[in-house]
Amino acid sequence: MAELQKSYPWTRTPLVACGPMRLIALSKLAFEVSNAGGLGFIGAGSDASILSAELEKVKQLQTSSSNFGSETSALPVGVGFLLWAGDKLLDDALPLLESYKPAAIWLFAPTEPQQLTKWTEAVRRVTQSKTKIWIQVGTVKDALEATKLCQPEVLVVQGTDAGGHGLEKCAGLIPLLPEVDDAVTAHCRAEGIAKPTMIAAGGIMDGRGAAASLALGASGFVMGTRYLASPEAVIAKGYQHAVLKAADGGINTARGKLYDTLRGTTDWPLHYGGRGVLNESHRDAEKGMSVKENKRRYDEALKLGDDGWGENARLTTYAGTGVGLVTEIKSAAAITEEVRGDAVSILKRTSSKL
Ligand SMILES: Cc1cc2nc3c(=O)[nH]c(=O)nc-3n(C[C@H](O)[C@H](O)[C@H](O)COP(=O)(O)O)c2cc1C
Repeated sequence: MAELQKSYPWTRTPLVACGPMRLIALSKLAFEVSNAGGLGFIGAGSDASILSAELEKVKQLQTSSSNFGSETSALPVGVGFLLWAGDKLLDDALPLLESYKPAAIWLFAPTEPQQLTKWTEAVRRVTQSKTKIWIQVGTVKDALEATKLCQPEVLVVQGTDAGGHGLEKCAGLIPLLPEVDDAVTAHCRAEGIAKPTMIAAGGIMDGRGAAASLALGASGFVMGTRYLASPEAVIAKGYQHAVLKAADGGINTARGKLYDTLRGTTDWPLHYGGRGVLNESHRDAEKGMSVKENKRRYDEALKLGDDGWGENARLTTYAGTGVGLVTEIKSAAAITEEVRGDAVSILKRTSSKL
Protein backbone atom coordinates (compact mmCIF):
# COMPACT_ATOMS: atom_id res chain seq x y z
CA MET A 1 0.00 0.00 0.00
CA ALA A 2 2.99 2.31 0.66
CA GLU A 3 3.90 1.77 -2.99
CA LEU A 4 0.52 3.19 -4.06
CA GLN A 5 0.93 6.32 -1.96
CA LYS A 6 4.40 6.85 -3.35
CA SER A 7 3.07 6.65 -6.91
CA TYR A 8 -0.15 8.61 -6.25
CA PRO A 9 0.73 10.86 -3.29
CA TRP A 10 -2.70 12.54 -3.00
CA THR A 11 -4.49 9.21 -2.47
CA ARG A 12 -5.69 7.79 0.81
CA THR A 13 -5.65 4.18 1.96
CA PRO A 14 -7.22 1.89 0.87
CA LEU A 15 -7.07 3.09 -2.73
CA VAL A 16 -10.46 3.62 -4.36
CA ALA A 17 -10.44 3.80 -8.16
CA CYS A 18 -13.14 4.57 -10.68
CA GLY A 19 -12.93 2.28 -13.72
CA PRO A 20 -12.32 3.82 -17.17
CA MET A 21 -15.86 3.47 -18.48
CA ARG A 22 -15.70 4.46 -22.14
CA LEU A 23 -17.42 7.80 -22.83
CA ILE A 24 -19.03 7.69 -19.33
CA ALA A 25 -16.03 8.26 -17.07
CA LEU A 26 -14.60 11.50 -18.45
CA SER A 27 -12.61 14.35 -16.87
CA LYS A 28 -15.24 15.43 -14.34
CA LEU A 29 -15.87 12.00 -12.84
CA ALA A 30 -12.22 11.00 -12.92
CA PHE A 31 -11.11 14.26 -11.34
CA GLU A 32 -13.74 14.20 -8.57
CA VAL A 33 -12.70 10.68 -7.56
CA SER A 34 -9.04 11.73 -7.42
CA ASN A 35 -9.91 14.95 -5.61
CA ALA A 36 -11.57 12.81 -2.92
CA GLY A 37 -8.33 10.89 -2.38
CA GLY A 38 -8.96 8.13 -4.93
CA LEU A 39 -7.78 7.61 -8.50
CA GLY A 40 -10.24 8.30 -11.28
CA PHE A 41 -9.73 6.91 -14.78
CA ILE A 42 -10.92 8.56 -17.98
CA GLY A 43 -12.37 5.97 -20.38
CA ALA A 44 -10.77 6.76 -23.73
CA GLY A 45 -11.63 3.27 -24.95
CA SER A 46 -10.77 2.49 -28.55
CA ASP A 47 -10.38 6.04 -29.83
CA ALA A 48 -8.20 8.91 -28.57
CA SER A 49 -10.21 11.70 -30.19
CA ILE A 50 -11.67 13.04 -26.92
CA LEU A 51 -8.51 12.59 -24.91
CA SER A 52 -6.73 15.87 -25.48
CA ALA A 53 -9.76 17.94 -24.41
CA GLU A 54 -10.45 15.72 -21.38
CA LEU A 55 -6.85 15.80 -20.14
CA GLU A 56 -6.77 19.57 -20.58
CA LYS A 57 -9.95 19.85 -18.47
CA VAL A 58 -8.33 17.83 -15.69
CA LYS A 59 -5.32 20.15 -15.81
CA GLN A 60 -7.63 23.13 -15.36
CA LEU A 61 -9.60 21.47 -12.56
CA GLN A 62 -6.37 20.60 -10.77
CA THR A 63 -5.47 24.28 -10.48
CA SER A 64 -8.67 24.88 -8.47
CA SER A 65 -7.84 22.24 -5.84
CA SER A 66 -5.33 22.27 -3.01
CA ASN A 67 -5.51 18.48 -2.63
CA PHE A 68 -2.60 17.75 -4.95
CA GLY A 69 0.73 18.69 -3.44
CA SER A 70 3.70 19.96 -5.40
CA GLU A 71 5.21 16.46 -5.30
CA THR A 72 2.53 15.35 -7.81
CA SER A 73 4.38 15.68 -11.10
CA ALA A 74 1.93 13.48 -13.03
CA LEU A 75 -1.64 14.51 -13.85
CA PRO A 76 -3.75 13.07 -10.98
CA VAL A 77 -5.99 10.83 -13.09
CA GLY A 78 -5.51 7.71 -15.18
CA VAL A 79 -6.64 6.84 -18.71
CA GLY A 80 -8.08 3.50 -19.87
CA PHE A 81 -7.50 2.07 -23.36
CA LEU A 82 -8.98 -0.88 -25.24
CA LEU A 83 -6.01 -2.45 -26.99
CA TRP A 84 -7.96 -4.36 -29.63
CA ALA A 85 -8.26 -1.00 -31.39
CA GLY A 86 -4.73 -1.52 -32.73
CA ASP A 87 -1.65 0.58 -33.45
CA LYS A 88 -3.50 3.76 -34.46
CA LEU A 89 -4.77 4.14 -30.90
CA LEU A 90 -1.23 3.92 -29.52
CA ASP A 91 0.08 6.34 -32.17
CA ASP A 92 -2.69 8.84 -31.39
CA ALA A 93 -2.43 8.50 -27.62
CA LEU A 94 1.34 8.56 -27.20
CA PRO A 95 1.96 12.31 -27.81
CA LEU A 96 -0.84 13.14 -25.35
CA LEU A 97 0.54 10.79 -22.71
CA GLU A 98 3.97 12.33 -23.23
CA SER A 99 2.66 15.83 -22.81
CA TYR A 100 0.14 15.35 -19.94
CA LYS A 101 1.73 12.39 -18.15
CA PRO A 102 -1.41 10.98 -16.50
CA ALA A 103 -0.65 9.10 -13.28
CA ALA A 104 -1.55 5.73 -14.82
CA ILE A 105 -2.81 4.01 -17.94
CA TRP A 106 -5.12 1.01 -17.75
CA LEU A 107 -4.64 -1.53 -20.54
CA PHE A 108 -7.44 -3.94 -21.36
CA ALA A 109 -8.47 -6.46 -23.99
CA PRO A 110 -5.45 -6.90 -26.29
CA THR A 111 -5.92 -9.06 -29.38
CA GLU A 112 -2.47 -10.53 -28.68
CA PRO A 113 -0.29 -10.29 -25.56
CA GLN A 114 2.56 -8.54 -27.43
CA GLN A 115 0.36 -5.43 -27.64
CA LEU A 116 0.76 -5.12 -23.87
CA THR A 117 4.55 -5.06 -24.27
CA LYS A 118 4.39 -2.49 -27.04
CA TRP A 119 2.19 -0.13 -25.01
CA THR A 120 4.15 -0.59 -21.80
CA GLU A 121 7.54 0.07 -23.39
CA ALA A 122 6.34 3.07 -25.39
CA VAL A 123 4.51 4.72 -22.49
CA ARG A 124 7.34 4.18 -20.01
CA ARG A 125 9.75 5.67 -22.54
CA VAL A 126 7.79 8.82 -23.37
CA THR A 127 6.70 9.55 -19.78
CA GLN A 128 10.00 8.53 -18.13
CA SER A 129 7.88 6.01 -16.17
CA LYS A 130 5.89 8.83 -14.52
CA THR A 131 2.78 7.16 -15.97
CA LYS A 132 2.31 3.84 -14.17
CA ILE A 133 1.10 0.73 -15.99
CA TRP A 134 -2.14 -0.93 -14.85
CA ILE A 135 -3.18 -4.09 -16.72
CA GLN A 136 -6.65 -5.54 -16.30
CA VAL A 137 -6.83 -9.34 -16.23
CA GLY A 138 -9.52 -11.93 -15.55
CA THR A 139 -7.60 -15.21 -15.33
CA VAL A 140 -4.49 -16.57 -13.59
CA LYS A 141 -2.98 -17.30 -17.02
CA ASP A 142 -3.42 -13.72 -18.24
CA ALA A 143 -2.10 -12.33 -14.94
CA LEU A 144 1.09 -14.38 -15.23
CA GLU A 145 1.52 -13.50 -18.88
CA ALA A 146 1.10 -9.76 -18.24
CA THR A 147 3.55 -9.93 -15.33
CA LYS A 148 6.16 -11.80 -17.36
CA LEU A 149 5.86 -9.52 -20.39
CA CYS A 150 5.47 -6.12 -18.76
CA GLN A 151 6.09 -6.18 -15.01
CA PRO A 152 3.19 -3.73 -14.60
CA GLU A 153 2.94 -1.64 -11.43
CA VAL A 154 -0.65 -2.83 -10.98
CA LEU A 155 -2.75 -5.83 -11.97
CA VAL A 156 -6.46 -5.04 -11.93
CA VAL A 157 -8.03 -8.41 -11.19
CA GLN A 158 -11.59 -8.28 -12.49
CA GLY A 159 -14.09 -11.01 -11.62
CA THR A 160 -17.11 -12.05 -13.64
CA ASP A 161 -19.59 -9.87 -11.70
CA ALA A 162 -18.25 -6.69 -13.31
CA GLY A 163 -20.44 -4.46 -15.42
CA GLY A 164 -19.53 -3.74 -19.02
CA HIS A 165 -17.00 -5.92 -20.82
CA GLY A 166 -15.07 -8.80 -19.40
CA LEU A 167 -14.06 -12.34 -20.24
CA GLU A 168 -16.95 -14.65 -21.15
CA LYS A 169 -15.23 -17.36 -19.08
CA CYS A 170 -14.12 -15.91 -15.77
CA ALA A 171 -14.29 -16.73 -12.06
CA GLY A 172 -15.80 -14.53 -9.38
CA LEU A 173 -13.45 -12.30 -7.40
CA ILE A 174 -13.43 -14.50 -4.26
CA PRO A 175 -11.52 -17.40 -5.83
CA LEU A 176 -9.87 -15.35 -8.60
CA LEU A 177 -7.93 -12.77 -6.63
CA PRO A 178 -6.16 -15.09 -4.15
CA GLU A 179 -5.24 -17.54 -6.91
CA VAL A 180 -3.83 -14.74 -9.07
CA ASP A 181 -2.01 -13.33 -6.05
CA ASP A 182 -0.44 -16.71 -5.16
CA ALA A 183 0.68 -17.41 -8.72
CA VAL A 184 2.08 -13.93 -9.34
CA THR A 185 3.81 -13.84 -5.93
CA ALA A 186 5.49 -17.20 -6.62
CA HIS A 187 6.61 -16.08 -10.06
CA CYS A 188 8.00 -12.75 -8.88
CA ARG A 189 9.85 -14.43 -5.98
CA ALA A 190 11.39 -17.01 -8.30
CA GLU A 191 12.49 -14.30 -10.76
CA GLY A 192 13.55 -11.79 -8.11
CA ILE A 193 11.32 -9.08 -9.63
CA ALA A 194 8.93 -6.59 -8.02
CA LYS A 195 5.42 -7.93 -7.57
CA PRO A 196 2.62 -5.86 -9.11
CA THR A 197 0.10 -4.38 -6.70
CA MET A 198 -3.25 -6.20 -6.78
CA ILE A 199 -6.35 -4.07 -7.25
CA ALA A 200 -9.75 -5.80 -7.17
CA ALA A 201 -12.67 -5.17 -9.53
CA GLY A 202 -16.04 -6.72 -10.22
CA GLY A 203 -19.06 -6.60 -7.93
CA ILE A 204 -17.78 -4.06 -5.38
CA MET A 205 -20.59 -1.60 -4.69
CA ASP A 206 -20.11 -0.56 -1.07
CA GLY A 207 -17.89 -0.87 1.99
CA ARG A 208 -18.80 -4.52 2.49
CA GLY A 209 -17.58 -5.64 -0.92
CA ALA A 210 -14.59 -3.33 -0.63
CA ALA A 211 -13.62 -4.80 2.78
CA ALA A 212 -13.96 -8.30 1.34
CA SER A 213 -11.62 -7.45 -1.54
CA LEU A 214 -8.99 -6.17 0.90
CA ALA A 215 -9.35 -9.35 2.95
CA LEU A 216 -8.70 -11.32 -0.25
CA GLY A 217 -5.33 -9.61 -0.62
CA ALA A 218 -6.07 -6.54 -2.73
CA SER A 219 -4.42 -3.21 -1.87
CA GLY A 220 -7.30 -1.25 -3.32
CA PHE A 221 -10.40 -1.66 -5.41
CA VAL A 222 -12.19 -0.37 -8.49
CA MET A 223 -15.85 0.45 -8.88
CA GLY A 224 -17.63 1.01 -12.17
CA THR A 225 -21.34 0.28 -11.77
CA ARG A 226 -21.57 2.24 -8.51
CA TYR A 227 -20.24 5.41 -10.16
CA LEU A 228 -22.90 5.17 -12.89
CA ALA A 229 -25.20 6.61 -10.21
CA SER A 230 -23.21 9.81 -9.77
CA PRO A 231 -24.03 13.20 -11.29
CA GLU A 232 -20.52 13.35 -12.75
CA ALA A 233 -21.02 10.25 -14.94
CA VAL A 234 -21.76 11.16 -18.57
CA ILE A 235 -24.86 9.01 -18.86
CA ALA A 236 -28.43 9.49 -20.09
CA LYS A 237 -31.02 9.96 -17.33
CA GLY A 238 -32.93 6.94 -18.67
CA TYR A 239 -29.83 4.73 -18.35
CA GLN A 240 -29.11 6.02 -14.84
CA HIS A 241 -32.72 5.43 -13.79
CA ALA A 242 -32.56 1.87 -15.14
CA VAL A 243 -29.44 1.26 -13.01
CA LEU A 244 -31.23 2.53 -9.88
CA LYS A 245 -34.27 0.34 -10.59
CA ALA A 246 -32.50 -2.92 -11.42
CA ALA A 247 -32.06 -5.51 -8.66
CA ASP A 248 -31.03 -9.11 -8.11
CA GLY A 249 -28.27 -8.92 -10.72
CA GLY A 250 -27.56 -12.65 -10.77
CA ILE A 251 -30.82 -13.23 -12.59
CA ASN A 252 -31.42 -9.80 -14.05
CA THR A 253 -28.08 -9.16 -15.75
CA ALA A 254 -26.14 -11.29 -18.20
CA ARG A 255 -22.83 -11.17 -20.03
CA GLY A 256 -22.90 -11.75 -23.77
CA LYS A 257 -22.58 -10.30 -27.25
CA LEU A 258 -26.19 -9.33 -27.99
CA TYR A 259 -25.91 -5.74 -26.73
CA ASP A 260 -22.70 -5.15 -28.73
CA THR A 261 -24.43 -6.52 -31.83
CA LEU A 262 -27.39 -4.19 -31.39
CA ARG A 263 -25.22 -1.17 -30.64
CA GLY A 264 -22.83 -1.92 -33.51
CA THR A 265 -19.76 -2.20 -31.23
CA THR A 266 -18.69 -5.49 -32.73
CA ASP A 267 -14.88 -5.14 -32.77
CA TRP A 268 -14.37 -6.87 -29.42
CA PRO A 269 -12.29 -10.10 -29.49
CA LEU A 270 -14.58 -13.14 -29.35
CA HIS A 271 -13.78 -14.18 -25.80
CA TYR A 272 -15.18 -10.92 -24.32
CA GLY A 273 -18.81 -10.10 -23.64
CA GLY A 274 -20.63 -7.14 -22.11
CA ARG A 275 -22.69 -7.51 -18.91
CA GLY A 276 -25.93 -5.54 -18.90
CA VAL A 277 -29.40 -5.54 -17.36
CA LEU A 278 -31.86 -7.89 -19.07
CA ASN A 279 -34.50 -6.11 -21.14
CA GLU A 280 -36.91 -6.61 -24.05
CA SER A 281 -34.06 -6.95 -26.57
CA HIS A 282 -32.62 -9.79 -24.52
CA ARG A 283 -35.94 -11.55 -23.99
CA ASP A 284 -36.82 -11.29 -27.70
CA ALA A 285 -33.44 -12.74 -28.69
CA GLU A 286 -34.02 -15.65 -26.29
CA LYS A 287 -37.42 -16.25 -27.91
CA GLY A 288 -35.72 -16.49 -31.30
CA MET A 289 -36.17 -13.02 -32.82
CA SER A 290 -33.73 -12.48 -35.69
CA VAL A 291 -30.81 -10.11 -35.12
CA LYS A 292 -32.06 -7.98 -38.02
CA GLU A 293 -35.50 -7.44 -36.47
CA ASN A 294 -34.04 -6.95 -32.99
CA LYS A 295 -31.67 -4.31 -34.34
CA ARG A 296 -34.50 -2.58 -36.20
CA ARG A 297 -36.44 -2.32 -32.94
CA TYR A 298 -33.31 -1.17 -31.10
CA ASP A 299 -32.81 1.61 -33.62
CA GLU A 300 -36.47 2.62 -33.20
CA ALA A 301 -35.99 2.70 -29.41
CA LEU A 302 -33.11 5.13 -29.84
CA LYS A 303 -35.71 7.70 -30.88
CA LEU A 304 -37.48 7.40 -27.51
CA GLY A 305 -34.73 9.17 -25.58
CA ASP A 306 -34.76 8.39 -21.87
CA ASP A 307 -37.85 6.16 -22.25
CA GLY A 308 -35.74 3.80 -24.35
CA TRP A 309 -34.09 2.36 -21.21
CA GLY A 310 -35.58 0.02 -18.61
CA GLU A 311 -36.35 -3.65 -18.10
CA ASN A 312 -39.36 -3.34 -20.39
CA ALA A 313 -37.55 -1.27 -22.99
CA ARG A 314 -34.74 -2.02 -25.45
CA LEU A 315 -31.62 0.15 -25.01
CA THR A 316 -28.53 -1.29 -23.35
CA THR A 317 -27.94 -0.76 -19.63
CA TYR A 318 -24.42 -2.05 -19.08
CA ALA A 319 -24.08 -2.76 -15.34
CA GLY A 320 -22.70 -5.45 -13.03
CA THR A 321 -24.41 -8.08 -10.91
CA GLY A 322 -24.12 -5.73 -7.92
CA VAL A 323 -26.55 -3.29 -9.53
CA GLY A 324 -29.23 -4.01 -6.89
CA LEU A 325 -27.01 -2.37 -4.28
CA VAL A 326 -26.99 0.89 -6.23
CA THR A 327 -30.12 2.66 -5.04
CA GLU A 328 -29.38 6.39 -4.96
CA ILE A 329 -27.48 9.06 -6.79
CA LYS A 330 -24.54 10.45 -4.85
CA SER A 331 -21.63 12.63 -5.84
CA ALA A 332 -18.49 10.81 -6.95
CA ALA A 333 -16.63 12.35 -3.99
CA ALA A 334 -19.29 11.11 -1.53
CA ILE A 335 -19.18 7.59 -3.00
CA THR A 336 -15.38 7.52 -2.84
CA GLU A 337 -15.24 8.73 0.76
CA GLU A 338 -18.17 6.60 1.95
CA VAL A 339 -16.91 3.31 0.51
CA ARG A 340 -13.32 3.88 1.66
CA GLY A 341 -14.47 4.82 5.19
CA ASP A 342 -16.98 1.97 5.45
CA ALA A 343 -14.41 -0.59 4.28
CA VAL A 344 -12.01 0.45 7.04
CA SER A 345 -14.75 0.47 9.73
CA ILE A 346 -16.01 -2.95 8.65
CA LEU A 347 -12.53 -4.46 8.77
CA LYS A 348 -11.92 -2.98 12.23
CA ARG A 349 -15.33 -4.11 13.50
CA THR A 350 -14.83 -7.59 12.08
CA SER A 351 -11.39 -8.06 13.58
CA SER A 352 -12.60 -6.82 17.00
CA LYS A 353 -15.17 -9.65 17.03
CA LEU A 354 -12.51 -12.35 16.62
C1 LIG B 1 -20.88 0.96 -18.32
C2 LIG B 1 -19.51 0.40 -18.13
C3 LIG B 1 -18.55 0.67 -19.10
C4 LIG B 1 -17.25 0.17 -18.95
N1 LIG B 1 -16.31 0.46 -19.89
C5 LIG B 1 -15.04 0.04 -19.72
C6 LIG B 1 -14.03 0.39 -20.67
O1 LIG B 1 -14.29 1.08 -21.66
N2 LIG B 1 -12.75 -0.05 -20.44
C7 LIG B 1 -12.43 -0.80 -19.35
O2 LIG B 1 -11.26 -1.15 -19.19
N3 LIG B 1 -13.38 -1.15 -18.44
C8 LIG B 1 -14.66 -0.74 -18.60
N4 LIG B 1 -15.60 -1.08 -17.68
C9 LIG B 1 -15.22 -1.92 -16.53
C10 LIG B 1 -14.79 -1.04 -15.35
O3 LIG B 1 -13.58 -0.39 -15.66
C11 LIG B 1 -14.62 -1.83 -14.04
O4 LIG B 1 -13.54 -2.74 -14.15
C12 LIG B 1 -15.89 -2.59 -13.68
O5 LIG B 1 -17.01 -1.75 -13.85
C13 LIG B 1 -15.83 -3.07 -12.23
O6 LIG B 1 -16.95 -3.84 -11.92
P1 LIG B 1 -18.33 -3.25 -11.32
O7 LIG B 1 -19.07 -2.70 -12.49
O8 LIG B 1 -18.98 -4.44 -10.74
O9 LIG B 1 -17.96 -2.19 -10.34
C14 LIG B 1 -16.92 -0.60 -17.81
C15 LIG B 1 -17.90 -0.85 -16.85
C16 LIG B 1 -19.17 -0.35 -16.99
C17 LIG B 1 -20.18 -0.63 -15.92
